[in-house]
Amino acid sequence: MGPGGAALDVARVRGLFPGLSDGMVHVDGPGGALVPESVLRAVSQAMRVPIANRGGVFPSSARAEQLVAGARSAVADLVGGTPRGVVLGASTTSLTYAMARTLAKTWRPGDEVVVSRLDHDANIRPWIQLAQELGLLVKWAEVDIESGELPEWQYDELLTDRTRLVAVTMASNAIGTRPDVRAIADRAHAVGALVYVDGAHAAPHGLIDLTATGADLLALSAYKWCGPHVGAVVADPDLLETLAPDKLAPAPDRVPDRFETGTPPFELYAGVAAAVDHLAALHPDATGTRRERLQTSMAAVVRYEGALFDRLDRALRSMRHVQVLGSPQYRTPTVSFTVSRMTPRAVARELSRRTICAWDGDHYARELFDALGVNEQGGAVRLGILHYNTVEEVDHVVDSVAALA
Ligand SMILES: Cc1ncc(COP(=O)(O)O)c(C=O)c1O
Repeated sequence: MGPGGAALDVARVRGLFPGLSDGMVHVDGPGGALVPESVLRAVSQAMRVPIANRGGVFPSSARAEQLVAGARSAVADLVGGTPRGVVLGASTTSLTYAMARTLAKTWRPGDEVVVSRLDHDANIRPWIQLAQELGLLVKWAEVDIESGELPEWQYDELLTDRTRLVAVTMASNAIGTRPDVRAIADRAHAVGALVYVDGAHAAPHGLIDLTATGADLLALSAYKWCGPHVGAVVADPDLLETLAPDKLAPAPDRVPDRFETGTPPFELYAGVAAAVDHLAALHPDATGTRRERLQTSMAAVVRYEGALFDRLDRALRSMRHVQVLGSPQYRTPTVSFTVSRMTPRAVARELSRRTICAWDGDHYARELFDALGVNEQGGAVRLGILHYNTVEEVDHVVDSVAALA
């Protein structure tokens, strides 16, 4: 078996995460992953030496420049983009608000945007609020309630020659569904619309290829893949060249800098690069460029997480007191469920008592959970697998949920 087929050494991987020593089972990854020592070290090292702002002629300013370049090139490697197409910012949410405003500068009343009921609110509300302000028409792609899928055929009816943008997630942070983004993007492009893809939840669970997805703009959050709290939007630099974001007069006009407002968190950018390096090194035999090492390592992550998730998902679905939301065919290792006669908050509390970190609520997938009818009871409990989880942890989670019967 070549390196691409070998397994992840989870004992080695777990040794990289100081946060795992708290004795808890961290299946709360969809709300933010733990951070490896290499990322902590990169952030603190960056602050141990002087960093100035960018644009000076002295060494500490050059260091700031290097940290920006390092983060851009790492994010580009992570998604198969180019560094000049990487816009860094605070978060997926704040970048999406800013990008929405920028993109809409040429839109007219009566133009249309298509959002999806599957998405995190970060890729819904910015478009809806903009539509209200500008008199745009919002159309909704709906989720199949039973399966949790987002059927792509419905876009044939939703798209018109007035559609300016389709906003869709690459994976649901609540129930894991991975829509066929490429099929949706092809339809959107056929009517001349842009495609804004939320890759925040998909990124840690399989290597993204920006071109293959068909996304024109792809949003990411590094804290979902073991990095610091930094967001990014990745696009073709030629597209970014056509856009005119609001910016300060003295700030650079070049792409992608003109999309980045104010002085950025340089030290966190060091952590972004370290997080991508961490992912690339997950498979110790991975060789070649960072992108190639990411390919090998993320393939091992997919296999590893998939096996753990199957075990978890099957066990949950076999419990009579548990109702799992949806059953999408392709998904990230993420599951939401309710428990008979218990609120999700009470379930999460009980799991916490049993050393399990689990989120409850709507997970900001409010539209989806409204459609599924679970918000009135407090949403659902969500569990997510990441590459540092183990089969023993999954079994402990399964036993703990079973004990709620
Ligand atoms: C799919 C998805 N989109 C957007 C977000 C929001 O990201 P941020 O907190 O960086 O704005 C999240 C966060 O959990 C997410 O999972």
